[in-house]
Amino acid sequence: MAGEVAALVFDAYGTLFDVHSVARRAQMLFPGKGDALSAAWRTKQLEYSWLRTLMGAYEDFDRVTRAALEWSLESLGLDAGEAAQRALIDEYRKLATFAEVPAALERLARSRPLAILSNGHPEMLEAVVDHNGLRDRFRGGILSVHAARRFKPEPSVYRIAEEALGVPRAMVGFVSSNGWDAAGAKAFGFRAYWVNRARAPVERLGVRPDAVLESLAGLEPALA
Ligand code: LAC
Repeated sequence: MAGEVAALVFDAYGTLFDVHSVARRAQMLFPGKGDALSAAWRTKQLEYSWLRTLMGAYEDFDRVTRAALEWSLESLGLDAGEAAQRALIDEYRKLATFAEVPAALERLARSRPLAILSNGHPEMLEAVVDHNGLRDRFRGGILSVHAARRFKPEPSVYRIAEEALGVPRAMVGFVSSNGWDAAGAKAFGFRAYWVNRARAPVERLGVRPDAVLESLAGLEPALA
């Protein structure tokens, strides 16, 4: 029932913004290796976010992203100078949205406050939101884990959104394309909507999403 979900919170990277659009830039810099670099970079970036949270050694997502890039370049035997690394990092500030995202957000924003909750450093998030002209959609806030100095799926991170919105967690719909993020949000007590863009199996983490969608276009019907 629509009344049950009073606010929606979106993951950013991979859910609203396509991180693999970075692959195009990587392909220009390293012909034939762009996809491998972009995939390795994303995987390492997430691993470092989880490891740093477990280690109690938070560094912001911009630094984690740089460290993951350095590791991925070395692992693939690619030699990138400072300018090339800078160009790749800068891509994070101008990622494209997935095609259906702007229209879906426009419709959804008519009935509920929308927010972003992301691992991204606040400055990275604001830049990519502004690049896509989406700031007005997020009346609920553009929220970063930076305030908690921990990364998803540590529970205190999801509490940032619950507190900012002032909506009980059972009435918050959390939307992510990352199965592990949807699981973390569900374990916290949000309603979880998993946008399964990669057609991956459901994570075996002891909780299941409330709904599985192919794209953000399916969210409004799932809320009805
Ligand atoms: C984020 C990562 C998990 O935006 O995609 O938080």
